[in-house]
Amino acid sequence: MPSLTPSLSARPLLGLALCTALSACSDSQHSQNTATPAVPDFWPVIQSEVSRSEAIEQRVQSLLANMTLEQKVAQTMQPEIRDISIEDMRRYGFGSYLNGGGAFPDNNKHASVQDWVKLAEAMYQASVDDSLDGSRIPTMWGTDAVHGHNNVIGATLFPHNIGLGAAHNPALIEKIAGATAKEVAATGIDWIFAPTVAVTRDDRWGRTYEAYSEDPDIVRDYAYAIVKGLQGRDEAFLSEQQVISTVKHFLGDGGTQNGDDQGDNLATEQQLFDIHAQGYVGGLTAGAQSVMASFNSWHGVKNHGNPYLLTQVLKERMGFDGFVVGDWNGHGQIPGCTNESCPAAINAGLDMYMVPTQAWKPLLENTIAQVKAGQISQARLDDAVARILRVKLRAGLFDKPSPANRALAGDSSLIGHAAHRAIARQAVRESLVLLKNKDQLLPLSPQSRILLAGDGADNIGKQSGGWTITWQGTGNQNSDFPGATSVYDGIKQAVDAAGGQVELAADGQYSQVPDVAIVVFGEEPYAEGNGDLANLEYQRGNKTDLALLKKLQSQGIPVVSVFISGRPMWVNPELNASDAFVAAWLPGSEGGGIADVLLRRTDGAVHHDFKGKLSFSWPASPEQTTVNRHDPDYQPLLPYGFGLSYGDKDVLSAPLDESVQTTNAALAPLSLFENDIKAPWQLSIGAIGNTQAVISSVQQQGPVSLRTSDWKIQEDSRRLHFDGSAPGEVQIGASFPQDLRAYVEANASLHLAVKLDSQLQSPVTLAMLCGENCSSELDISARLAALPVGEWHSVSVPLQCFNQANHLARVFSPFSLRVQGELHISIANIRLLPGQAEANQCQ
Ligand code: BGC
Ligand code: BGC
Repeated sequence: MPSLTPSLSARPLLGLALCTALSACSDSQHSQNTATPAVPDFWPVIQSEVSRSEAIEQRVQSLLANMTLEQKVAQTMQPEIRDISIEDMRRYGFGSYLNGGGAFPDNNKHASVQDWVKLAEAMYQASVDDSLDGSRIPTMWGTDAVHGHNNVIGATLFPHNIGLGAAHNPALIEKIAGATAKEVAATGIDWIFAPTVAVTRDDRWGRTYEAYSEDPDIVRDYAYAIVKGLQGRDEAFLSEQQVISTVKHFLGDGGTQNGDDQGDNLATEQQLFDIHAQGYVGGLTAGAQSVMASFNSWHGVKNHGNPYLLTQVLKERMGFDGFVVGDWNGHGQIPGCTNESCPAAINAGLDMYMVPTQAWKPLLENTIAQVKAGQISQARLDDAVARILRVKLRAGLFDKPSPANRALAGDSSLIGHAAHRAIARQAVRESLVLLKNKDQLLPLSPQSRILLAGDGADNIGKQSGGWTITWQGTGNQNSDFPGATSVYDGIKQAVDAAGGQVELAADGQYSQVPDVAIVVFGEEPYAEGNGDLANLEYQRGNKTDLALLKKLQSQGIPVVSVFISGRPMWVNPELNASDAFVAAWLPGSEGGGIADVLLRRTDGAVHHDFKGKLSFSWPASPEQTTVNRHDPDYQPLLPYGFGLSYGDKDVLSAPLDESVQTTNAALAPLSLFENDIKAPWQLSIGAIGNTQAVISSVQQQGPVSLRTSDWKIQEDSRRLHFDGSAPGEVQIGASFPQDLRAYVEANASLHLAVKLDSQLQSPVTLAMLCGENCSSELDISARLAALPVGEWHSVSVPLQCFNQANHLARVFSPFSLRVQGELHISIANIRLLPGQAEANQCQ
């Protein structure tokens, strides 16, 4: 067990930042002489509270001295449970393995705690079995427990980070982390990929909710607290009750241009440190043992391949001595690399490749060959392996019992334990931010007649957001959350006990006129790039929730809005149509925390007051996507730190501007399939004229089969096989028609990325469908036949080519691809782009 310096009290990081800044100055004198660019003095040396132990260093060296090249390279590989078997583990002895979001033992969503432990035990035993690979080094399992142990049925789901940010309570964060560690340990898992310490600067980013704040202060303090809670303090450090943590994603993930996921960050180096690196100051001080490299680039250079950031800044200057793990095939995005081969990543300072899919085997073989050929130096490989072994030794993996025999393993009572749920419920209470409270409508009497409306009222999946059982958080039902409470459940319990009445009607059609309505609505779950937005307007072009609020108000019913969202959004019309408005973020499994605050006691006293304060500025317009605390011209609707308490004067009672100013008068591109297919669009396949909606990642319907595939990022394309038994079709449509005439006038064209996976042998057409017996079809066989097989190409067709008989006034499916014979083809990135059409492109 490494010795820990005494834990710091009160303001832990301030004192440290000072002394580390000083030591940074003296340290930089030495590094001036090296050939590589000098690291500016503002990057500090971080004094990790997990200090070096000579005994561990000696063990690392003696292990290394006895390892073969193959064994060493295997330590740097982290494949995924869907793509390796226990026998692969026995044969290769991978340093680690992971389960991605929505990946379970035996592909069983309802896997029991025993199933998880069984897989952990089998993988561990195979890793220490030296019969095939000669290695007895224990492997370790990493998982995304990012708001509780969120891949496991019945686990406590804490509010996503954005809500925790509003709570401004580091001590609570440490408790949450401690509870999460126990639930993870109960399943035999060693290591988690959290905390995310991104600082989100553009709220269009789909991962905004994974960040605590737009401001670094709280992120630094929280990172310290969560790492302490996960890994344990003092004697508890990485004991059998704790897990290894990962500070991610290094570096600048929250500062990309336009809030693009996996995009390019153009911050100066000073901003990179001041804004984006503060979570590492906190997390590495607390002793985080791993750091995950980010998908994003910094000034055009992918972080996974950036030796300056990974090696010079993180390891050499900041002094990080744990290991750097990659993100989901992130190495494959470095120019010159593929998922199967990437010396540039390890050379830049990556220590462990996260390599899901079948790519692990070629990557392993190629990496071995590259060390032999000198493309990767022996010294770099040894350093990577030494770091991984150091962490394994610090975590006691060589000495602890096997996963199934550890203190908490298999204890299913820990999953969703009452004590953990109580912490989560407190976190829900403290994360709620009251934006509006006209005439002090809140708190409500529990003895009144309350209508619960909105599609979020009794919807635990929706209130939990992405990274909830499945990666995207979609496809779940309340029955998938045993022990959890919806917002409705919580209100009902309290009101029933107090003698009031509750009616649940998602659509607002009550049977008895209520005294007040609580309407729970907001964003549907999403994760990563699937949540990227063009602007922050809520329900752009389809304001069904606003209609519900207005309807209730027009009936004289006071309305309390509870807004579920992964980011602040422009909701001026919804604010105007509400008497009280609560930003609830993504509260997770303990919806009861909302009733705790919204309802007063039967004696009239406040039960729990609002404590949450915005950790993100609230936008005054849909285009105000980058309004952040400390901006020079700072004019949000509500500032960072805002949040009413009971009795505070309302500031939003006067009607807000509802007009939407879009800076760009030009028509926006219409996206049908960009990274993912989002509502209202739906993909369907089948025989022509008889298609069925696609609901899973592998599906067959009539002559067409489909599977999800990767083009630029994971799952951003679809691979189709038309078997030729009958003419087949793949189409993207919606249940309501779109008027595309403005797109024709704007000279738009339909763009798509295609890859022929076999030779074209029969006619293919593109069509736009406008209802019963209404379609405009265009033969694109000649164009496709000209494309080489196996390569992605982009094809574009002017919209004008489909505009027969005013067909484009009512389009249900702007994209339909029809194939007569057999064909293997992949498609991605389907959009209508204004101003792109050139004449004579119809053939
Ligand atoms: C995400 C990471 C996550 C990893 C493993 C990636 O796509 O960016 O945050 O830890 O997948 O699921
Ligand atoms: C996988 C998820 C994984 C995610 C990481 C997806 O392709 O299906 O399991 O967590 O990528 O980004």
